[in-house]
Amino acid sequence: MHYDWNPRFPKGFLFGASSAAWQVEGATTEDGRTPAIIDLNSQKKAPFVDNKFTADHYHRYAEDVALMKECGLTSYRFSIAWPRIIPAADGAVNPAGIAFYNNLIDELLAAGITPIVTLYHYDMPVWAQEKLGGWRSREIIPAFAHYVRTCFEAFGDRVKYWLSINEQNMQICYGDWLGVSKGVEDWFRDKWKINHIMNLCHATAVNLCHEVVDGGKIGPVPGYVPIYPETCRPEDQIAAMNAEEFTEKIWCDTYAYGDYSPFLYNYWRNHDIDPDIRPGDIETMKRAKSDFLAVNCYRSNTARHAPADAEAQEYLLNASGKKGELTFPVVPGQYALTRNPYVEYTDWDWEIDPVAMRYALRYLWDHYRLPMVITENGLGAHESKSPDGKVHDPRRLDYIRDNLYQIGLAIEDGVDVFGYNAWTFTDLLSTGNGMAKRYGFVFIDTTDEEQKATDDVSTLALTRIPKDSYYWYQSFIASGATQW
Ligand code: BG6
Repeated sequence: MHYDWNPRFPKGFLFGASSAAWQVEGATTEDGRTPAIIDLNSQKKAPFVDNKFTADHYHRYAEDVALMKECGLTSYRFSIAWPRIIPAADGAVNPAGIAFYNNLIDELLAAGITPIVTLYHYDMPVWAQEKLGGWRSREIIPAFAHYVRTCFEAFGDRVKYWLSINEQNMQICYGDWLGVSKGVEDWFRDKWKINHIMNLCHATAVNLCHEVVDGGKIGPVPGYVPIYPETCRPEDQIAAMNAEEFTEKIWCDTYAYGDYSPFLYNYWRNHDIDPDIRPGDIETMKRAKSDFLAVNCYRSNTARHAPADAEAQEYLLNASGKKGELTFPVVPGQYALTRNPYVEYTDWDWEIDPVAMRYALRYLWDHYRLPMVITENGLGAHESKSPDGKVHDPRRLDYIRDNLYQIGLAIEDGVDVFGYNAWTFTDLLSTGNGMAKRYGFVFIDTTDEEQKATDDVSTLALTRIPKDSYYWYQSFIASGATQW
C-alpha cells in the first residue's frame, strides 16, 4: 500500500485495543464466577484448549494495563462476564466480580486509558440458559436488565462508553459456531424469535444506560463484512445486496430505526416466519436511540448470483488454520459467496482487505449518520518466538497500518469516526482455535498443549512479549498518527 497522503485523525481520537472476558480472563471458576454457555462451547473445540486459563488476564490485568500504557493506548475495549457479576438465578450480585472490574477500570483510568465496556460478549450464564431458557425465552429480558443495571450502577461513574451485545448478527448467522442454536429445533424459523429477544435486550440496555449513567453513551456492535459483487453483471449486484441484507444490514437497520425493514417483514411473510413481536415491543425498540455504532470489521466478501435451483451449501468456516479449508455458502435464489482474486487471504481464509474498512465506514455513515468507533479489526496468525527471543509479526503490522490508513482516508471522506481498537492487545483464546490463532500486539508465551496438560494456572509462565506490531503501534501513536 502507498502512503501517499497524511490523513488527519481528529483531536482526541482513541487509539486502543480490544478483548472479551471469556477469551482473555481465564479464572472461570474463581471468586464465585459460575459457568457460561460459551465455556461449554469452547470445551467442544478439540484439539484446542478451552477458556479455563487463556491469557490469565484476571490475575495479570495490572501487568497488561502497564504494557498498554507503555504502548501509548488511549482506550481499551473489554467485556464484563455476566456470570461473574450475577452468578446464580437468585440474582444476588457477586462482590468479588464487582471488585475485579472496579480494579481494572481504576487501573486503566490511572494509566490515562478510556474504558469502553461491552455488556454481552457471548457469556450467557448457564443458570440463565437452564432456568430461563436463555435467548429462547422472553424471561431473559428482566434478567438481562437486572445485570446491565447492576453494571451501570457499579461502574457508570467512571465508564461512559458502553456497548450492548457483541455481533448479534454473527450469533444469528453462525448459531452453531457460537453455540446459540443449541437445543433449538427449527433454527431457520426460530432464530428470528431469538433475534427479536436480543433486540429487546439491546433496547433495554440502551434505555437503561441513558436513564442510569450520567453522560453515558451506548451503541450496538455489529460485525461488518462489506460485500462486493463478483462482476458488474446486474444479478451479481443484487446478490451482493442480498448477502449484505442477510448478514448485516438487517441488524444495522433495526438498531438505527428501531423497527424491522420492509425487506425483512416481506421475507418473514414469504417464508411463513413469526418472530413473535408483541404489543409494545417496537415502541421499546424505537425509544432506544443509539449514540454511536461500534464496528467490528476484519475482511470483505464477494457475492455472485445463485439461481433458485442452485444446490444449497452451508458456510463451513476454516477451523484448522490450514489455508484453503473454507467452504463458501450458496443460498439458492439469494446469493453465493466466492473467492476474491484481488485480495490476499489469511491462514484461516479470511480476506486481507484494508480498503474494505474505508468502504464499511463510508457505507455505514451514508446509511445511518451515527458516529462510529472501530471495536475490532485484526489479523489471526500462527506465531511463535524467534531464536532472537522476539516475536516478528510483519503481516499483522502491515494489516494494522493499512487499516488505520484506510480509516484515515474515510475520515478525510467526511465520516465521523472517534476511535480504533484493534483485536487484540494480548494473544487470547480464539472462538474456534484455542491459543493457536493469535491476534495480539503482545505474545503470550503458551500453547494449547501446555495449557491442556495442567489444572493449575500458577504452573504456567504466560510471559508477555511485545511483538514488532506493538512497537510500530507505539511509535505511530507517539507521532500523533503521522508516522506511517
Ligand atoms: C469477532 C468476535 O467476530 O471475531 C471475537 O467478536 C472473535 O470474539 C474475533 O475472537 C475473531 O474471531 P476468531 O474466530 O478468529 O477468534
